[in-house]
Amino acid sequence: PGTGLFLPERPNSHGVDLRDRAQREAVETGRGFFATHEWQAAPLTAVEAPQGPSDPVANPARLSDTVGQVRWAVPETVAAAASAARPWQASAAERTVILNRAADLFEANAGEVFALLHREAGKTMLDAVAELREAVDFLRYYAARTEGGAALGIFACISPWNFPLAIFTGQVAAALAAGNAVLAKPAEQTPLIAHRAVEWLHEAGVPRTALQSLPGAGEVGAALTSNPTVGGMAFTGSTETAQIIHRTMAKHLAPGAPLIAETGGLNAMIVDSTALPEQAVQAIVESAFQSAGQRCSALRCLYVQEDIAEDLLKMLTGAMEALLVGDPWELSCDLGPVIDAEAKAGIVAHIEQAASEGRVIKTFPTPDRGHFVAPTLIRVSGIDQMTREIFGPVLHVATFKATQIDKVIAAINATGYGLTFGLQTRIDDRVQHVSEAIHAGNIYVNRNQIGAIVGSQPFGGEGLSGTGPKAGGPLYVDRFRRHETLLMGG
Ligand code: SER
Repeated sequence: PGTGLFLPERPNSHGVDLRDRAQREAVETGRGFFATHEWQAAPLTAVEAPQGPSDPVANPARLSDTVGQVRWAVPETVAAAASAARPWQASAAERTVILNRAADLFEANAGEVFALLHREAGKTMLDAVAELREAVDFLRYYAARTEGGAALGIFACISPWNFPLAIFTGQVAAALAAGNAVLAKPAEQTPLIAHRAVEWLHEAGVPRTALQSLPGAGEVGAALTSNPTVGGMAFTGSTETAQIIHRTMAKHLAPGAPLIAETGGLNAMIVDSTALPEQAVQAIVESAFQSAGQRCSALRCLYVQEDIAEDLLKMLTGAMEALLVGDPWELSCDLGPVIDAEAKAGIVAHIEQAASEGRVIKTFPTPDRGHFVAPTLIRVSGIDQMTREIFGPVLHVATFKATQIDKVIAAINATGYGLTFGLQTRIDDRVQHVSEAIHAGNIYVNRNQIGAIVGSQPFGGEGLSGTGPKAGGPLYVDRFRRHETLLMGG
Protein backbone atom coordinates (compact mmCIF):
# COMPACT_ATOMS: atom_id res chain seq x y z
CA PRO A 1 0.00 0.00 0.00
CA GLY A 2 3.08 2.25 0.11
CA THR A 3 2.24 4.49 -2.84
CA GLY A 4 -1.24 5.39 -1.67
CA LEU A 5 -2.39 5.02 -5.26
CA PHE A 6 -3.32 1.37 -5.48
CA LEU A 7 -5.21 -1.04 -3.33
CA PRO A 8 -2.73 -3.24 -1.56
CA GLU A 9 -2.27 -6.61 -3.23
CA ARG A 10 -3.95 -8.28 -0.27
CA PRO A 11 -6.53 -5.75 0.85
CA ASN A 12 -7.95 -7.70 3.79
CA SER A 13 -6.28 -9.05 6.89
CA HIS A 14 -6.00 -12.84 7.01
CA GLY A 15 -7.10 -13.12 10.62
CA VAL A 16 -6.68 -16.45 12.36
CA ASP A 17 -7.75 -19.88 11.13
CA LEU A 18 -9.03 -21.51 14.32
CA ARG A 19 -9.28 -24.92 12.63
CA ASP A 20 -5.50 -24.96 12.39
CA ARG A 21 -3.92 -26.38 15.57
CA ALA A 22 -0.69 -24.34 15.30
CA GLN A 23 -2.65 -21.09 14.89
CA ARG A 24 -4.93 -22.00 17.80
CA GLU A 25 -1.92 -22.63 20.00
CA ALA A 26 -0.38 -19.32 18.99
CA VAL A 27 -3.62 -17.60 19.99
CA GLU A 28 -3.61 -19.37 23.37
CA THR A 29 -0.02 -18.30 24.01
CA GLY A 30 -0.71 -14.74 22.90
CA ARG A 31 -3.80 -14.17 25.00
CA GLY A 32 -2.81 -16.38 27.97
CA PHE A 33 -0.76 -13.67 29.66
CA PHE A 34 -3.77 -11.35 29.60
CA ALA A 35 -6.24 -13.76 31.26
CA THR A 36 -5.91 -11.93 34.59
CA HIS A 37 -4.17 -8.72 33.50
CA GLU A 38 -5.64 -5.41 34.66
CA TRP A 39 -5.41 -2.53 32.17
CA GLN A 40 -5.41 1.18 32.92
CA ALA A 41 -7.11 3.79 30.73
CA ALA A 42 -7.11 7.56 31.09
CA PRO A 43 -7.48 10.57 28.82
CA LEU A 44 -4.52 10.75 26.41
CA THR A 45 -4.08 14.44 25.72
CA ALA A 46 -1.33 16.55 24.15
CA VAL A 47 -1.19 18.86 27.16
CA GLU A 48 -1.74 18.32 30.83
CA ALA A 49 -5.47 18.51 31.34
CA PRO A 50 -7.92 18.19 34.22
CA GLN A 51 -9.26 14.65 34.71
CA GLY A 52 -12.29 13.20 36.46
CA PRO A 53 -12.65 10.31 38.90
CA SER A 54 -11.76 6.70 38.09
CA ASP A 55 -13.84 3.52 38.05
CA PRO A 56 -13.23 -0.20 37.70
CA VAL A 57 -14.24 -1.94 34.46
CA ALA A 58 -15.94 -5.33 34.98
CA ASN A 59 -16.14 -8.36 32.70
CA PRO A 60 -19.79 -8.64 31.56
CA ALA A 61 -19.53 -12.45 31.58
CA ARG A 62 -17.95 -12.69 35.05
CA LEU A 63 -18.72 -9.72 37.24
CA SER A 64 -16.06 -10.67 39.80
CA ASP A 65 -13.36 -10.30 37.11
CA THR A 66 -11.97 -6.75 37.16
CA VAL A 67 -10.57 -6.00 33.71
CA GLY A 68 -8.98 -2.70 34.66
CA GLN A 69 -9.49 0.87 35.77
CA VAL A 70 -10.52 3.90 33.78
CA ARG A 71 -9.89 7.52 34.72
CA TRP A 72 -12.56 9.58 33.03
CA ALA A 73 -12.34 12.71 30.96
CA VAL A 74 -14.63 15.57 31.97
CA PRO A 75 -15.78 18.62 29.94
CA GLU A 76 -12.66 20.55 31.07
CA THR A 77 -10.49 17.79 29.58
CA VAL A 78 -12.25 18.30 26.26
CA ALA A 79 -11.59 22.06 26.32
CA ALA A 80 -7.86 21.54 27.03
CA ALA A 81 -7.53 18.83 24.38
CA ALA A 82 -9.35 20.94 21.78
CA SER A 83 -7.00 23.89 22.30
CA ALA A 84 -3.95 21.60 21.97
CA ALA A 85 -5.24 19.85 18.82
CA ARG A 86 -3.34 20.48 15.56
CA PRO A 87 -4.20 18.95 12.17
CA TRP A 88 -1.71 16.26 11.22
CA GLN A 89 1.09 17.98 9.29
CA ALA A 90 2.74 14.84 7.86
CA SER A 91 2.57 14.40 4.07
CA ALA A 92 -0.02 12.05 2.60
CA ALA A 93 2.73 9.49 1.90
CA GLU A 94 3.92 9.65 5.52
CA ARG A 95 0.38 9.26 6.82
CA THR A 96 0.04 6.14 4.68
CA VAL A 97 3.19 4.64 6.15
CA ILE A 98 2.19 5.44 9.73
CA LEU A 99 -1.39 4.10 9.46
CA ASN A 100 -0.06 0.89 7.91
CA ARG A 101 2.48 0.64 10.72
CA ALA A 102 -0.39 0.95 13.20
CA ALA A 103 -2.19 -1.92 11.41
CA ASP A 104 0.93 -4.05 11.83
CA LEU A 105 1.07 -3.17 15.54
CA PHE A 106 -2.57 -4.15 16.02
CA GLU A 107 -1.83 -7.53 14.42
CA ALA A 108 1.37 -7.99 16.41
CA ASN A 109 -0.66 -7.52 19.59
CA ALA A 110 -3.46 -9.91 18.56
CA GLY A 111 -3.34 -11.89 21.82
CA GLU A 112 -3.89 -8.77 23.91
CA VAL A 113 -6.63 -7.57 21.57
CA PHE A 114 -8.49 -10.88 21.85
CA ALA A 115 -8.19 -10.89 25.66
CA LEU A 116 -9.56 -7.33 25.84
CA LEU A 117 -12.40 -8.14 23.46
CA HIS A 118 -13.40 -11.22 25.49
CA ARG A 119 -13.07 -9.66 28.92
CA GLU A 120 -14.11 -6.04 28.39
CA ALA A 121 -16.66 -6.44 25.58
CA GLY A 122 -17.90 -10.04 26.02
CA LYS A 123 -16.82 -11.06 22.50
CA THR A 124 -16.48 -14.69 21.47
CA MET A 125 -13.31 -15.84 19.71
CA LEU A 126 -15.05 -15.79 16.32
CA ASP A 127 -16.21 -12.22 16.91
CA ALA A 128 -12.82 -11.16 18.28
CA VAL A 129 -10.96 -12.44 15.23
CA ALA A 130 -13.43 -10.73 12.90
CA GLU A 131 -13.18 -7.49 14.84
CA LEU A 132 -9.38 -7.34 14.80
CA ARG A 133 -9.45 -8.06 11.08
CA GLU A 134 -11.94 -5.26 10.48
CA ALA A 135 -9.90 -2.74 12.50
CA VAL A 136 -6.74 -3.66 10.58
CA ASP A 137 -8.65 -3.52 7.29
CA PHE A 138 -9.94 -0.03 8.06
CA LEU A 139 -6.40 1.17 8.83
CA ARG A 140 -4.96 -0.25 5.61
CA TYR A 141 -7.90 0.73 3.42
CA TYR A 142 -7.92 4.35 4.60
CA ALA A 143 -4.11 4.44 4.58
CA ALA A 144 -4.36 3.89 0.83
CA ARG A 145 -6.59 6.99 0.55
CA THR A 146 -4.57 9.78 2.15
CA GLU A 147 -4.27 11.77 -1.07
CA GLY A 148 -6.99 14.33 -1.71
CA GLY A 149 -8.15 17.72 -0.51
CA ALA A 150 -7.26 19.54 2.70
CA ALA A 151 -8.21 18.36 6.18
CA LEU A 152 -11.25 19.95 7.80
CA GLY A 153 -9.34 20.73 10.99
CA ILE A 154 -10.49 19.06 14.20
CA PHE A 155 -12.71 15.98 13.91
CA ALA A 156 -14.59 14.55 16.88
CA CYS A 157 -15.22 10.79 16.77
CA ILE A 158 -17.79 9.18 19.07
CA SER A 159 -17.94 5.40 18.88
CA PRO A 160 -20.01 2.55 20.37
CA TRP A 161 -19.16 -0.39 22.62
CA ASN A 162 -20.39 -3.11 20.26
CA PHE A 163 -17.33 -2.81 17.98
CA PRO A 164 -15.03 -1.17 20.51
CA LEU A 165 -11.93 -1.66 18.38
CA ALA A 166 -13.16 -1.80 14.77
CA ILE A 167 -15.57 1.15 14.73
CA PHE A 168 -13.37 3.22 17.05
CA THR A 169 -10.40 2.62 14.76
CA GLY A 170 -12.38 3.07 11.54
CA GLN A 171 -13.59 6.57 12.43
CA VAL A 172 -10.21 7.66 13.78
CA ALA A 173 -8.23 6.21 10.86
CA ALA A 174 -10.43 7.91 8.26
CA ALA A 175 -10.19 11.28 10.00
CA LEU A 176 -6.41 10.90 10.31
CA ALA A 177 -6.00 9.69 6.73
CA ALA A 178 -7.48 13.01 5.61
CA GLY A 179 -5.01 14.85 7.88
CA ASN A 180 -7.37 16.02 10.62
CA ALA A 181 -6.68 16.34 14.32
CA VAL A 182 -8.88 13.83 16.11
CA LEU A 183 -10.61 14.02 19.46
CA ALA A 184 -11.92 10.50 20.06
CA LYS A 185 -14.47 9.52 22.67
CA PRO A 186 -14.77 5.75 23.05
CA ALA A 187 -17.93 4.30 24.60
CA GLU A 188 -17.90 4.40 28.39
CA GLN A 189 -18.45 0.62 28.53
CA THR A 190 -15.22 -0.14 26.59
CA PRO A 191 -12.50 2.44 27.34
CA LEU A 192 -9.63 -0.03 27.88
CA ILE A 193 -9.30 -1.41 24.37
CA ALA A 194 -9.67 2.07 22.87
CA HIS A 195 -6.86 3.27 25.12
CA ARG A 196 -4.54 0.54 23.81
CA ALA A 197 -5.55 1.33 20.22
CA VAL A 198 -4.59 4.98 20.71
CA GLU A 199 -1.28 3.96 22.29
CA TRP A 200 -0.51 1.80 19.25
CA LEU A 201 -1.42 4.64 16.88
CA HIS A 202 0.91 6.97 18.81
CA GLU A 203 3.64 4.33 18.80
CA ALA A 204 3.24 4.02 15.03
CA GLY A 205 3.96 7.72 14.68
CA VAL A 206 0.68 9.66 14.93
CA PRO A 207 1.55 12.77 16.96
CA ARG A 208 -0.30 13.39 20.21
CA THR A 209 -1.54 16.75 18.94
CA ALA A 210 -3.23 14.89 16.07
CA LEU A 211 -4.87 12.17 18.16
CA GLN A 212 -6.22 12.58 21.67
CA SER A 213 -8.51 10.21 23.48
CA LEU A 214 -11.24 11.23 25.90
CA PRO A 215 -12.93 8.29 27.64
CA GLY A 216 -16.14 9.54 29.14
CA ALA A 217 -19.88 9.53 29.37
CA GLY A 218 -22.52 11.69 27.68
CA GLU A 219 -21.23 14.95 29.16
CA VAL A 220 -17.93 14.44 27.30
CA GLY A 221 -19.81 13.78 24.07
CA ALA A 222 -21.88 16.90 24.67
CA ALA A 223 -18.73 18.97 25.30
CA LEU A 224 -17.29 17.73 21.98
CA THR A 225 -20.48 18.39 20.04
CA SER A 226 -20.73 21.95 21.30
CA ASN A 227 -17.04 22.93 21.04
CA PRO A 228 -16.86 25.54 18.27
CA THR A 229 -13.32 24.49 17.24
CA VAL A 230 -14.68 21.13 16.08
CA GLY A 231 -15.02 21.06 12.29
CA GLY A 232 -16.89 17.77 11.87
CA MET A 233 -18.21 14.74 13.71
CA ALA A 234 -18.28 11.00 13.15
CA PHE A 235 -20.82 9.17 15.28
CA THR A 236 -21.97 5.56 15.49
CA GLY A 237 -24.75 4.75 17.94
CA SER A 238 -28.47 5.19 18.34
CA THR A 239 -30.65 7.19 15.97
CA GLU A 240 -31.93 9.27 18.91
CA THR A 241 -28.41 10.30 19.97
CA ALA A 242 -27.51 11.14 16.36
CA GLN A 243 -30.51 13.47 16.22
CA ILE A 244 -29.44 15.19 19.44
CA ILE A 245 -25.89 15.58 18.09
CA HIS A 246 -27.25 17.02 14.86
CA ARG A 247 -29.26 19.65 16.72
CA THR A 248 -26.37 20.56 19.05
CA MET A 249 -23.96 20.86 16.12
CA ALA A 250 -26.37 23.16 14.32
CA LYS A 251 -26.36 25.44 17.35
CA HIS A 252 -22.63 25.57 18.12
CA LEU A 253 -20.51 24.50 15.13
CA ALA A 254 -19.84 26.19 11.82
CA PRO A 255 -22.68 25.76 9.33
CA GLY A 256 -21.84 22.88 7.05
CA ALA A 257 -19.70 20.98 9.59
CA PRO A 258 -20.38 17.40 8.46
CA LEU A 259 -21.99 14.76 10.65
CA ILE A 260 -21.18 11.23 9.52
CA ALA A 261 -23.65 9.07 11.43
CA GLU A 262 -24.18 5.33 11.43
CA THR A 263 -27.20 4.48 13.53
CA GLY A 264 -29.76 1.80 14.27
CA GLY A 265 -31.93 -0.47 12.22
CA LEU A 266 -35.00 -2.66 12.25
CA ASN A 267 -33.45 -5.20 9.92
CA ALA A 268 -35.62 -7.80 8.23
CA MET A 269 -35.15 -11.02 6.31
CA ILE A 270 -37.66 -12.61 3.95
CA VAL A 271 -37.58 -16.40 3.54
CA ASP A 272 -39.86 -17.70 0.81
CA SER A 273 -40.98 -21.28 0.21
CA THR A 274 -38.25 -21.93 -2.36
CA ALA A 275 -35.41 -21.17 0.09
CA LEU A 276 -32.96 -23.91 1.06
CA PRO A 277 -33.97 -24.58 4.67
CA GLU A 278 -30.50 -25.50 6.00
CA GLN A 279 -28.95 -22.43 4.42
CA ALA A 280 -31.75 -20.19 5.67
CA VAL A 281 -31.50 -21.49 9.24
CA GLN A 282 -27.75 -20.99 9.36
CA ALA A 283 -28.11 -17.47 7.98
CA ILE A 284 -30.86 -16.67 10.50
CA VAL A 285 -28.91 -17.99 13.48
CA GLU A 286 -25.77 -16.07 12.52
CA SER A 287 -27.64 -12.87 11.67
CA ALA A 288 -29.82 -12.79 14.78
CA PHE A 289 -27.63 -14.33 17.48
CA GLN A 290 -23.95 -13.95 16.63
CA SER A 291 -22.41 -11.24 18.87
CA ALA A 292 -25.46 -11.87 21.10
CA GLY A 293 -27.45 -9.83 18.58
CA GLN A 294 -25.47 -6.70 19.46
CA ARG A 295 -24.78 -5.55 15.93
CA CYS A 296 -26.58 -2.71 14.22
CA SER A 297 -26.71 -5.04 11.20
CA ALA A 298 -28.38 -7.90 13.13
CA LEU A 299 -31.59 -9.51 11.96
CA ARG A 300 -34.51 -8.30 14.09
CA CYS A 301 -37.61 -9.38 12.14
CA LEU A 302 -37.87 -12.60 10.17
CA TYR A 303 -40.66 -13.01 7.62
CA VAL A 304 -41.26 -16.66 6.73
CA GLN A 305 -43.69 -17.77 4.04
CA GLU A 306 -46.61 -19.47 5.77
CA ASP A 307 -46.28 -22.76 3.83
CA ILE A 308 -42.86 -23.55 5.30
CA ALA A 309 -43.10 -21.71 8.62
CA GLU A 310 -43.77 -24.68 10.87
CA ASP A 311 -40.90 -26.78 9.51
CA LEU A 312 -38.47 -23.88 9.37
CA LEU A 313 -39.19 -22.79 12.94
CA LYS A 314 -38.69 -26.35 14.14
CA MET A 315 -35.26 -26.44 12.53
CA LEU A 316 -34.48 -22.97 13.82
CA THR A 317 -35.34 -23.73 17.44
CA GLY A 318 -33.26 -26.92 17.17
CA ALA A 319 -30.29 -24.88 15.97
CA MET A 320 -30.84 -22.35 18.76
CA GLU A 321 -30.84 -25.12 21.34
CA ALA A 322 -27.37 -26.15 20.16
CA LEU A 323 -25.92 -22.67 20.79
CA LEU A 324 -23.54 -22.58 23.74
CA VAL A 325 -24.16 -19.53 25.90
CA GLY A 326 -21.30 -18.81 28.29
CA ASP A 327 -17.91 -17.27 28.97
CA PRO A 328 -16.58 -15.91 25.67
CA TRP A 329 -13.01 -16.75 26.70
CA GLU A 330 -13.91 -20.42 25.97
CA LEU A 331 -13.34 -21.27 22.31
CA SER A 332 -16.55 -23.34 22.30
CA CYS A 333 -18.72 -20.38 23.31
CA ASP A 334 -21.25 -19.29 20.64
CA LEU A 335 -23.00 -16.55 22.56
CA GLY A 336 -21.42 -14.25 25.11
CA PRO A 337 -23.15 -11.82 27.47
CA VAL A 338 -24.82 -8.56 26.60
CA ILE A 339 -22.77 -5.53 27.52
CA ASP A 340 -24.11 -4.48 30.92
CA ALA A 341 -26.89 -4.71 33.50
CA GLU A 342 -28.88 -1.89 31.91
CA ALA A 343 -28.80 -3.55 28.49
CA LYS A 344 -29.87 -6.86 29.99
CA ALA A 345 -32.72 -5.29 31.96
CA GLY A 346 -34.13 -3.62 28.82
CA ILE A 347 -34.00 -6.82 26.76
CA VAL A 348 -35.45 -8.97 29.56
CA ALA A 349 -38.31 -6.49 30.07
CA HIS A 350 -39.10 -6.75 26.37
CA ILE A 351 -39.14 -10.58 26.52
CA GLU A 352 -41.30 -10.54 29.66
CA GLN A 353 -43.79 -8.20 28.03
CA ALA A 354 -44.02 -10.53 25.03
CA ALA A 355 -44.36 -13.53 27.37
CA SER A 356 -47.25 -11.86 29.18
CA GLU A 357 -48.98 -11.55 25.80
CA GLY A 358 -48.28 -15.22 24.98
CA ARG A 359 -45.93 -14.34 22.11
CA VAL A 360 -42.69 -16.06 23.15
CA ILE A 361 -42.17 -18.97 20.74
CA LYS A 362 -38.96 -20.19 22.32
CA THR A 363 -36.42 -19.19 24.94
CA PHE A 364 -33.80 -21.02 27.04
CA PRO A 365 -32.30 -20.90 30.51
CA THR A 366 -29.12 -18.80 30.85
CA PRO A 367 -26.04 -18.91 33.08
CA ASP A 368 -26.91 -16.98 36.23
CA ARG A 369 -23.59 -15.11 36.58
CA GLY A 370 -22.90 -12.25 34.22
CA HIS A 371 -25.20 -10.30 31.92
CA PHE A 372 -26.50 -13.20 29.86
CA VAL A 373 -29.67 -13.28 27.79
CA ALA A 374 -30.77 -16.52 26.12
CA PRO A 375 -31.55 -16.56 22.40
CA THR A 376 -35.27 -15.97 22.12
CA LEU A 377 -37.96 -16.06 19.43
CA ILE A 378 -40.97 -13.75 19.68
CA ARG A 379 -44.03 -13.84 17.46
CA VAL A 380 -45.14 -10.59 15.82
CA SER A 381 -47.89 -9.88 13.32
CA GLY A 382 -45.40 -7.82 11.31
CA ILE A 383 -42.49 -5.43 11.59
CA ASP A 384 -44.94 -2.59 12.27
CA GLN A 385 -45.56 -4.16 15.68
CA MET A 386 -41.93 -3.43 16.59
CA THR A 387 -41.52 0.10 17.83
CA ARG A 388 -37.80 0.06 18.64
CA GLU A 389 -34.58 -1.80 18.05
CA ILE A 390 -34.02 -4.47 20.74
CA PHE A 391 -30.22 -4.71 20.87
CA GLY A 392 -29.78 -8.33 21.93
CA PRO A 393 -30.33 -11.99 20.96
CA VAL A 394 -34.07 -11.62 20.35
CA LEU A 395 -35.59 -12.48 17.00
CA HIS A 396 -39.13 -11.49 16.04
CA VAL A 397 -40.95 -13.75 13.61
CA ALA A 398 -43.88 -13.04 11.30
CA THR A 399 -45.42 -15.14 8.54
CA PHE A 400 -46.75 -14.07 5.16
CA LYS A 401 -48.74 -15.58 2.30
CA ALA A 402 -47.19 -15.90 -1.16
CA THR A 403 -49.44 -13.15 -2.51
CA GLN A 404 -48.46 -10.68 0.23
CA ILE A 405 -44.79 -10.14 -0.54
CA ASP A 406 -45.26 -6.56 -1.74
CA LYS A 407 -47.14 -5.72 1.44
CA VAL A 408 -44.24 -7.12 3.45
CA ILE A 409 -41.77 -4.98 1.50
CA ALA A 410 -43.93 -1.90 2.06
CA ALA A 411 -44.10 -2.60 5.81
CA ILE A 412 -40.31 -2.99 6.02
CA ASN A 413 -39.76 0.27 4.13
CA ALA A 414 -42.36 2.04 6.27
CA THR A 415 -40.20 1.66 9.40
CA GLY A 416 -38.04 4.46 8.00
CA TYR A 417 -34.86 2.54 8.84
CA GLY A 418 -32.71 1.08 6.09
CA LEU A 419 -29.58 -0.67 7.25
CA THR A 420 -29.42 -4.36 6.32
CA PHE A 421 -31.88 -6.72 4.65
CA GLY A 422 -31.71 -10.44 3.91
CA LEU A 423 -33.50 -12.53 1.31
CA GLN A 424 -33.62 -16.32 1.00
CA THR A 425 -35.11 -17.50 -2.27
CA ARG A 426 -34.28 -19.51 -5.36
CA ILE A 427 -36.40 -17.39 -7.71
CA ASP A 428 -34.12 -15.11 -9.74
CA ASP A 429 -36.86 -12.61 -10.62
CA ARG A 430 -37.69 -12.27 -6.95
CA VAL A 431 -34.08 -11.40 -6.11
CA GLN A 432 -34.26 -8.66 -8.72
CA HIS A 433 -37.66 -7.36 -7.66
CA VAL A 434 -37.15 -7.41 -3.89
CA SER A 435 -33.68 -5.94 -3.92
CA GLU A 436 -34.86 -3.06 -6.08
CA ALA A 437 -37.92 -2.41 -3.92
CA ILE A 438 -36.30 -2.58 -0.45
CA HIS A 439 -34.72 0.58 0.94
CA ALA A 440 -31.62 -0.67 2.75
CA GLY A 441 -27.95 0.16 2.61
CA ASN A 442 -26.76 -3.45 2.58
CA ILE A 443 -28.82 -6.23 0.97
CA TYR A 444 -27.70 -9.83 1.33
CA VAL A 445 -29.12 -12.72 -0.73
CA ASN A 446 -28.93 -16.38 0.33
CA ARG A 447 -26.39 -15.74 3.09
CA ASN A 448 -26.25 -14.05 6.49
CA GLN A 449 -26.71 -10.30 6.75
CA ILE A 450 -23.91 -9.37 9.15
CA GLY A 451 -20.16 -8.90 8.94
CA ALA A 452 -19.62 -6.54 6.02
CA ILE A 453 -16.04 -6.70 4.71
CA VAL A 454 -14.00 -3.50 4.29
CA GLY A 455 -13.37 -2.74 0.64
CA SER A 456 -15.63 -5.35 -0.92
CA GLN A 457 -18.81 -4.65 1.10
CA PRO A 458 -18.89 -1.00 2.19
CA PHE A 459 -21.30 -0.70 5.11
CA GLY A 460 -23.94 1.91 5.89
CA GLY A 461 -27.62 2.68 5.87
CA GLU A 462 -30.18 5.11 4.63
CA GLY A 463 -33.16 6.91 6.19
CA LEU A 464 -33.11 6.68 9.99
CA SER A 465 -30.11 4.33 9.78
CA GLY A 466 -27.44 6.83 8.83
CA THR A 467 -26.14 9.64 6.71
CA GLY A 468 -23.65 7.75 4.58
CA PRO A 469 -21.13 7.60 3.04
CA LYS A 470 -20.49 3.94 3.70
CA ALA A 471 -17.64 2.91 5.98
CA GLY A 472 -14.99 0.81 4.27
CA GLY A 473 -16.00 2.27 0.90
CA PRO A 474 -14.22 4.56 -1.56
CA LEU A 475 -16.17 7.72 -0.66
CA TYR A 476 -15.72 7.61 3.11
CA VAL A 477 -12.42 9.45 3.70
CA ASP A 478 -13.48 12.25 1.39
CA ARG A 479 -16.22 13.26 3.83
CA PHE A 480 -13.51 14.11 6.36
CA ARG A 481 -12.05 16.73 4.00
CA ARG A 482 -12.73 20.36 3.27
CA HIS A 483 -14.78 20.98 0.16
CA GLU A 484 -13.90 24.26 -1.44
CA THR A 485 -14.84 25.62 -4.79
CA LEU A 486 -12.46 28.12 -6.28
CA LEU A 487 -14.41 30.62 -8.38
CA MET A 488 -12.28 32.84 -10.59
CA GLY A 489 -13.89 35.82 -12.21
CA GLY A 490 -12.89 37.28 -15.52
N1 SER B 1 -20.21 -3.68 10.12
C1 SER B 1 -20.96 -4.49 11.01
C2 SER B 1 -21.63 -5.61 10.29
O1 SER B 1 -21.67 -5.59 9.07
C3 SER B 1 -21.94 -3.59 11.71
O2 SER B 1 -22.63 -3.99 12.73
O3 SER B 1 -22.13 -6.50 10.90
